[in-house]
Amino acid sequence: MTVPLVHAPVDVGLRAWVLADAEELAAMYADAREELTADAPWRSPAWFTVDGQRERIRSCLDADSVEGFVITASGAIVGNLSLDEIRRDILQSADIGYWVAPGARRRGVATRAIGLAVGHAFGCLGLHRIHATVDIDNRASSRALEDNGFHRVGVIRGFAMVGGGWRDHHLYQLSAEDWRAEPA
Ligand SMILES: CC(C)(COP(=O)(O)OP(=O)(O)OC[C@H]1O[C@@H](n2cnc3c(N)ncnc32)[C@H](O)[C@@H]1OP(=O)(O)O)[C@@H](O)C(=O)NCCC(=O)NCCS
Repeated sequence: MTVPLVHAPVDVGLRAWVLADAEELAAMYADAREELTADAPWRSPAWFTVDGQRERIRSCLDADSVEGFVITASGAIVGNLSLDEIRRDILQSADIGYWVAPGARRRGVATRAIGLAVGHAFGCLGLHRIHATVDIDNRASSRALEDNGFHRVGVIRGFAMVGGGWRDHHLYQLSAEDWRAEPA
């Protein structure tokens, strides 16, 4: 199988998940377990194990509607990014989600990884629109999207249960037309 590889000039890369990533992903998530459990208490202890990550990668690889990537910096895995809910019907759309390990944050990793994913979604997959939903207090995520040309188009009230409460989220979108007209 050919593994798609996309590189930005500044050292940040996106690589499609392979099963062999399970070990490195499990170690990375273990280091951030407190944050990941607080944000998403539904994550079981099994999710944090190598087997749990292997299962997660396997189900992603089996699904036509998901593309999962590891984010790399200097070749090391520092996060993950996924295009979810990929629709090949009249929408031709996907949701984007991402996470960067705490030790790799504030160095432009998410911003560059999103840029690579956008290029892949529009340039390679031929999608028409990408959506993102961001907790209204998540300034870093909003900035990373805005720096890539995403527009805030609304607020979804009580969108997701985070930290024990239903949180409002901003809805962002970027269309292929906007991206081509004004590349970030
Ligand atoms: C949100 C997240 C992905 C950002 O990753 P990152 O690699 O640190 O982001 P970047 O370094 O590309 O920074 C993006 C922008 O946010 C700003 N930023 C970064 N961390 C910030 C913080 N804690 N508070 C305020 N602004 C912040 C950066 O300065 C940059 O803004 P700029 O373009 O004006 O310079 C990361 O914090 C994370 O994984 N958080 C937990 C999971 C999450 O929230 N995922 C997104 C769900 S929608």
